[in-house]
Amino acid sequence: MIVTHLELTDFRNYREVEVDLVAGPNLFVGSNGQGKTNLVEAIGYLSTLGSHRVATDHALIRAGQDAAIVRARLEHAERTVLVEVQLNRSSANRAQVNRVATKPRELPRYATSVLFAPEDLALVRGDPGGRRRYLDQLLVQLTPRLAGVLADYDRVLRQRTTLLKSVRAARVAESQLSTLEVWDERLAALGSEIIVERSALIDRIRPHVADAYRRIAGDDHKADLAVRLSILGDTAPADEGDDDTEDAGTSSTALAPGEVREAFTAALTRVRRQELDRGLTLIGPHRDDLVLTLNGLPAKGYASHGESWSFALALKLAAAATLRADSPLGDPVVILDDVFAALDETRRARLASGIADYEQVLITAAVLDDVPDALRAHTVRIQAGRIVKPGEDA
Ligand SMILES: Nc1ncnc2c1ncn2[C@@H]1O[C@H](COP(=O)(O)OP(=O)(O)O)[C@@H](O)[C@H]1O
Ligand SMILES: [Mg+2]
Repeated sequence: MIVTHLELTDFRNYREVEVDLVAGPNLFVGSNGQGKTNLVEAIGYLSTLGSHRVATDHALIRAGQDAAIVRARLEHAERTVLVEVQLNRSSANRAQVNRVATKPRELPRYATSVLFAPEDLALVRGDPGGRRRYLDQLLVQLTPRLAGVLADYDRVLRQRTTLLKSVRAARVAESQLSTLEVWDERLAALGSEIIVERSALIDRIRPHVADAYRRIAGDDHKADLAVRLSILGDTAPADEGDDDTEDAGTSSTALAPGEVREAFTAALTRVRRQELDRGLTLIGPHRDDLVLTLNGLPAKGYASHGESWSFALALKLAAAATLRADSPLGDPVVILDDVFAALDETRRARLASGIADYEQVLITAAVLDDVPDALRAHTVRIQAGRIVKPGEDA
């Protein structure tokens, strides 16, 4: 899939902008703070309904405005689709496909992208939440239906946790806890589905991660992934707020749905007392982690800066390779935001060759010379939320 035209209204620092994009590499250059990331962030939003920089949509709406609009013309195979999303400050967002109103949640059925940015170092070094988001975003892109399952799980989790908190605050008597069983049931059903889907996905991306890491780092280190499941008693240290000790073993074999459901239910019984004491839902996919290892050692805590960086990039390239192989939309738009500046010549060249054959690649850079020649064929200059026209002074 490629984006051939993008129009933004009151998105970030853009009042109104239109830009044509081509198949192959598109390079956006401009000094810092001019709007390069903002532009590619808009395209990322269409496929993930979120931003890689902020958790809520409000920061995406131009300061002082009530709504932002992202409109794009997409092409897959022979088909052209016009998609549009309106982000509203004080009401629900709205979307259109070919000028017909639809739910924003439908947009990832038409747009697919993978964005890599310096912030992604947190995938390796940061909290489990970022790694769960990585998996869930990819799940939704591969199977849009799962957006609903994830949203339902979040809602059940919030409601169940609220109930646990009321028991803790003695606003609800423990004897009246029959409603908790209803929530347990829902939590285990939805949670098990997410666990099963995530573990199947991990099995799918593992070979791509190993392959991408080898190609970027240029050595024979084996990068691998495993899942850490809270229902099996493996808690992610950062979620517990404990020391960052790498203790629990990891399990990488995909579990059968029935087994997961049983383990989930048994685990809920096991932690019941603790949950009531703490007013928290202590187990479930919201407490799981994706463990990254290099030659069998956990990347978090052991990997050097360069290795961590390569691992983060490998995760994103693996996502792109998986979408290419399995998404009905084919190639995702590969977005590289501000990544070439941080790389030496060798890694620049390796990255360039790793993404060379994707249908469309969007690159941002402050300095043109940081980007390999082969990626400069279509260059757009950006200044203060405007596209600089050819011949115009930058
Ligand atoms: N909601 C917003 N309203 C107005 N300006 C914004 C908004 N969000 C970000 N900006 C501005 O956008 C600029 C950053 O743009 P960005 O795309 O991150 O720059 P870069 O070209 O370095 O990638 C900053 O000047 C910032 O103040
Ligand atoms: Mg930027």
